[in-house]
Amino acid sequence: MKATLVIENIENLITIKGENKARAGSQQSEIGLIKNGIIAVNNDKIIYVGEGGLPNNIKTDNNTIILNGKGKTVTPGLIDPHTHLIHGGSRENELSMKLKGKDYLEILSAGGGIHSTAKATENATLDELYQKAEKSLNIMLSFGVTTVEAKSGYGIGSFNTELKQIEVANLLNKNHPVDLISTFMGAHAIPDEYKDNPDLFVDKLIDDMIPYIAENKLAKFCDVFCEEGVFTVDQSRRILNAAKTNRLIPKVHADEIVSLGGAELAAEVGCISAEHLIAASDQGIKDMAEKGVIAVLLPGTSFNLQKGTAARARKMIEENVPVAISTDYNPGSCPSENLQLMMTLASLTLRMMPEEVIVGVTINAAAALGLEKEVGSLEIGKKADIAIFDAPNLDYMIYHFGINHTEKVIKNGKVVYERN
Ligand code: NIG
Ligand code: FE
Repeated sequence: MKATLVIENIENLITIKGENKARAGSQQSEIGLIKNGIIAVNNDKIIYVGEGGLPNNIKTDNNTIILNGKGKTVTPGLIDPHTHLIHGGSRENELSMKLKGKDYLEILSAGGGIHSTAKATENATLDELYQKAEKSLNIMLSFGVTTVEAKSGYGIGSFNTELKQIEVANLLNKNHPVDLISTFMGAHAIPDEYKDNPDLFVDKLIDDMIPYIAENKLAKFCDVFCEEGVFTVDQSRRILNAAKTNRLIPKVHADEIVSLGGAELAAEVGCISAEHLIAASDQGIKDMAEKGVIAVLLPGTSFNLQKGTAARARKMIEENVPVAISTDYNPGSCPSENLQLMMTLASLTLRMMPEEVIVGVTINAAAALGLEKEVGSLEIGKKADIAIFDAPNLDYMIYHFGINHTEKVIKNGKVVYERN
């Protein structure tokens, strides 16, 4: 078979080889490391992964792109499984408010926060939203990310705004090298006009919006912000079950700030993942382990909320909950597209070992998006989504923080990003 692209002499080839499913417990540190590795690609698929040279049945010719991995760390293209990528405006005004002691939920209940982004998103044209999101997506790609989940959720009652966000996601998915996966998050905050009767808004989500999204195949997942002052556990349950009935896969923003029982709910409903979990209870963690719910942890958000709390990743790993790591990129709780920074924060603030972290942004992140059979590891037959980092080993990449280690990114077998 002919190789169209080969990376040879790879100092540290992190394949993540193993079962194509979310990794929990001690398996969360299985990274399939190969020293002096080599990887060959034919068009958009991986055809060989090993040590030393290529076997005889794989041929190169003058057209084969040969890259040298000497001194580099090569991993599967990174996956960011939780973002609010598409939105209008920005909220740097919240920085001084926060420094003066106002907290996230206070700002939200006073009509700021998500509500102010909703206004900016409603006022932005499709083109403006596209250009802004494209810029962020380019930044993500430059950090080695090849697949990104993108939530709607800044319509807050304006279904047209939700649809506009999803349309931008679909257009970007077509035009940009990074794959975008859409999540419908109509349940992100209670619209002003439903403040006194939020259940009526929940009815509208269930009766009109979710069926429309599902019928028109506009999203793969459905998400709810289950939080004090936002959607209760009962309301979230109704929404997530309606998603299931309509064949959207349920996900939930659970126990981000207050311990409400979101983790327990995720297990009860059978969500593919529960996200945030800063305040998840012991029982919630047990329930998630039992049902195989993936914990998507967002260490940039706990850092940025500055409450001195963070998700209990160590306990989750001990209890056999698979852990994924993501940016949560959004204009309020985590205004950063940098997944490499989140890897460092996962390590330093969640006490995750480097091996656990890289599994968290590859196969476990893929599994949180239902893509574990296609991406998330470097194995024969999988998509040729590969990141080359100018770092001699994984520990260095996480330890030396605040810079971008990416040298090249390969998406579907093509070099789509190259430093300088
Ligand atoms: O994941 N918690 C709810 N949603 C986002 C924040 C969105 C915003 O503040 O605009 C989050 O933290
Ligand atoms: Fe979020």
